[in-house]
Amino acid sequence: MRKLGERAYFLLCRALGWWLRHARYSKARIVTQDGEPQVRKQRLVYAPLLVWLGGPLVRILDAGVRVLPQRDWEERERRIYRSLRRAPIRIDADGTLVLPLLAGETLATLLEDPELEGSVRTRAIELAVVALAEFHHLGFSHGDAMAENVLIDLDAGVAHWFDFETVHDLRRSMAWRRADDVRALLATCLVRTVPAELPDALQLILDVYRDEGATRCLATSFTPLLRRSLTFHLAQAGLSFPRYREIANLLRERTDCSDRGAIQY
Ligand SMILES: Nc1ncnc2c1ncn2[C@@H]1O[C@H](COP(=O)(O)OP(=O)(O)OP(=O)(O)O)[C@@H](O)[C@H]1O
Ligand SMILES: [Mg+2]
Repeated sequence: MRKLGERAYFLLCRALGWWLRHARYSKARIVTQDGEPQVRKQRLVYAPLLVWLGGPLVRILDAGVRVLPQRDWEERERRIYRSLRRAPIRIDADGTLVLPLLAGETLATLLEDPELEGSVRTRAIELAVVALAEFHHLGFSHGDAMAENVLIDLDAGVAHWFDFETVHDLRRSMAWRRADDVRALLATCLVRTVPAELPDALQLILDVYRDEGATRCLATSFTPLLRRSLTFHLAQAGLSFPRYREIANLLRERTDCSDRGAIQY
């Protein structure tokens, strides 16, 4: 009976998540001006209303994040581009952000390519995780660290995180915020991974990120299933019920193993 209840709750959250996933705040376009390619990102007309309505919604969903209003978003993008890329960004009078065009393809696009070689897949995931860890070392957390929000430049061997409209709730610990970024990246990679490769992809991400504290925090974000944040998590990655359970089990096994290792040591 409990199992049935869990499955029904999961399916309800997944349906709500699907609906949430389609909420759009802004539009990004690649344009060329004076021979320079650039990205112009602009909020949609109804975005202020969505941001305002989204505040209570993300609190109900216990998401631990919020979408920034225009001015705060501008300030955050400016600060992060300055720290990460030493590149200034421009903000037009109508609030359009003009960003330098970063090289590469999103990790999501790469992972969805059925022709992509296994070794390239692994490399792309590694680069995204390394760049996320570096971002964290600079004192930031992303807030929406999905495979859709990182560009992988395979030729240069680097990854670039972008899209800083969402911010973590500052009342959450920094450890929680970092683990939440790893959760979002892990879930959005695993939703694009065939079942047979799921355990290896999960180990790869956790091995490259190398923070057992974060892994433990991550394991608790997949269990118990009956929790408010499930809708938001499934909005980021619409995992199936069996796949979600498998990830939770793999994370539990991994934390049990590292606990046993610590005791023996
Ligand atoms: N600085 C950048 N350099 C290169 N491409 C970018 C850059 N910023 C955004 N893009 C491209 O624009 C797309 C959308 O950007 P972004 O993720 O910032 O907006 P979004 O609001 O999440 O849009 P969407 O909901 O359509 O993903 C990205 O998938 C990426 O391909
Ligand atoms: Mg995005």
